[in-house]
Amino acid sequence: MKINQAEIVMSAAREAQFPQAPFPEIALSGRSNVGKSSFINKVLTRKNLARTSQKPGKTQTLNFYLINNRFHFVDVPGYGYAKVSKKEREAWGKLLEHYFQTREQLRGVVQLVDSRHEPTKDDVAMYNWFKHHEIPVIIIGTKADKIPKGKWQKHKKQINETLGVINSDTVILFSAETGLGKDDAWKAMTGLLFS
Ligand code: GTP
Ligand code: MG
Repeated sequence: MKINQAEIVMSAAREAQFPQAPFPEIALSGRSNVGKSSFINKVLTRKNLARTSQKPGKTQTLNFYLINNRFHFVDVPGYGYAKVSKKEREAWGKLLEHYFQTREQLRGVVQLVDSRHEPTKDDVAMYNWFKHHEIPVIIIGTKADKIPKGKWQKHKKQINETLGVINSDTVILFSAETGLGKDDAWKAMTGLLFS
């Protein structure tokens, strides 16, 4: 996809701040530090639209990006970060649950997992939760540049098996460094957004 326009339209800390425009929307979900912001920057070919950091838990609002005046990407705060209080975490959990259950514009989720390691319990729980709510999921295995090419299939299989990925969902290995998986990711995302 050619990106003519990509801009952040809202950093929402509560529901009243969610954009009301009817654009179809894809949300990005994944453990803190897994590479959500890097994924957004890479697929949008913008260097620093979404802030990346080595410090987990930097993204703490639902960040809505409007792309080509046609659809939204939503960068969702990472789960599993330790730096916030239990109370804050619970409030976030509630907001996210509400968002995923009620957002009419939502067409699907890009769930990011670190392709170097077996998906964590949190990853499995998130995927199961999306499936329970019948939300289509594209699974992106991040940081694939750190795995030797000869082991890509093995890691992909592990993601498929550990998450119990169903047939209608896809697993794509991705690298924000090399651009591996970018075209496949777009194919899968436009399929959800515009079909
Ligand atoms: P939070 O916003 O804190 O939840 O993190 P995030 O999921 O947005 O992760 P972010 O994109 O900030 O990336 C975290 C770290 O991983 C950064 O140091 C990135 O440079 C690095 N990283 C992300 N993607 C890749 C990748 O594909 N390959 C490599 N080698 N490093 C990556
Ligand atoms: Mg981020």
